Amino acid sequence: MTEQQEQLEIRSLIDTPFEELVTCLRVSFIDYVVNFQEVPVEYWRKRWDCAGINYDISFGAFERSSNKLVAFVLLAEGLHEGAKTAFNCATGVIQQFRGQRLVNTIFQHAIPILRQQYQVTKLLLEVVSINERAVRAYKRVGFNIERTLPCYKYTGAAAAVAVVQGKDIVKTEGKDVDFGQLAHQLYAPTWEMRLSCLEKNRDNVECWSVVGSTSYVLVNKAYSNIVHYRFDTRDDGLALLGAVLASHPSFKCNHSDERDQLATSVFESVGMEKYLQQYEMEMTI
Ligand SMILES: CC(C)(COP(=O)(O)OP(=O)(O)OC[C@H]1O[C@@H](n2cnc3c(N)ncnc32)[C@H](O)[C@@H]1OP(=O)(O)O)[C@@H](O)C(=O)NCCC(=O)NCCS
Repeated sequence: MTEQQEQLEIRSLIDTPFEELVTCLRVSFIDYVVNFQEVPVEYWRKRWDCAGINYDISFGAFERSSNKLVAFVLLAEGLHEGAKTAFNCATGVIQQFRGQRLVNTIFQHAIPILRQQYQVTKLLLEVVSINERAVRAYKRVGFNIERTLPCYKYTGAAAAVAVVQGKDIVKTEGKDVDFGQLAHQLYAPTWEMRLSCLEKNRDNVECWSVVGSTSYVLVNKAYSNIVHYRFDTRDDGLALLGAVLASHPSFKCNHSDERDQLATSVFESVGMEKYLQQYEMEMTI
């Protein structure tokens, strides 16, 4: 442990005021690929509630002298492919404390607690592939890359959008959607894009579906973000995205699976461009 680390106490975030946590997130993400500086506190509260964050098993590093939070690992709890899992929703270390393997220190504190008190057997997270520091930090903890998740966006810059005629498309507001009846995605959704999480945010979601099929997309209305999708055929996908485009002149899908050739073909055919990719990383504990 470095001298600077000895000045730190690792403990649960259960008693940390939410605003202090968001302040630490903003400071530690100051140089991040996405600008989180103006994102309101309420956005994080809602997002982390939907993800199932458990503040008892989320941990921070606090400066002993000032009791200031300088690093954090936020963990949600739930089942993933049948295994009791802790999902790492956000990790940050403020700049003055980086490069000391603090992420590893926090995880090494958390792992025995997760295993013994919560019977967690798996850790899971997502990270933008170009965030090499974070990928290295997670590999040091013991995480392995399990799959690659391309992020697509449509900005209108591309050529003509493929249009499919003759499909009957219906839009349903999230409050009226029966989430339990929606068909599964071809590849597993990411943690926060599971229907059980999206259902908690149903007022901000709309569902576009193809009549007479199990094809649909769920769109987060505020962010024009396709958060879940199911395409039975390529034509269904094209028709759905054509309909989404009429309401959302630019839109994204940040959580496809690179193995999903049907979705890739649909996204590229409507002129969406891949602008980033994420890794889903896992480790058994
Ligand atoms: C990613 C992050 C959490 C890593 O925290 P950390 O405790 O500094 O991680 P580590 O000390 O294990 O260092 C990780 C890598 O960063 C590099 N690094 C070393 N010193 C550094 C410094 N002073 N500043 C930045 N990076 C440094 C090292 O190459 C190191 O890899 P190595 O251990 O294989 O040499 C931190 O950089 C951060 O908060 N970044 C912004 C928010 C973010 O990206 N969060 C993750 C989102 S998924």
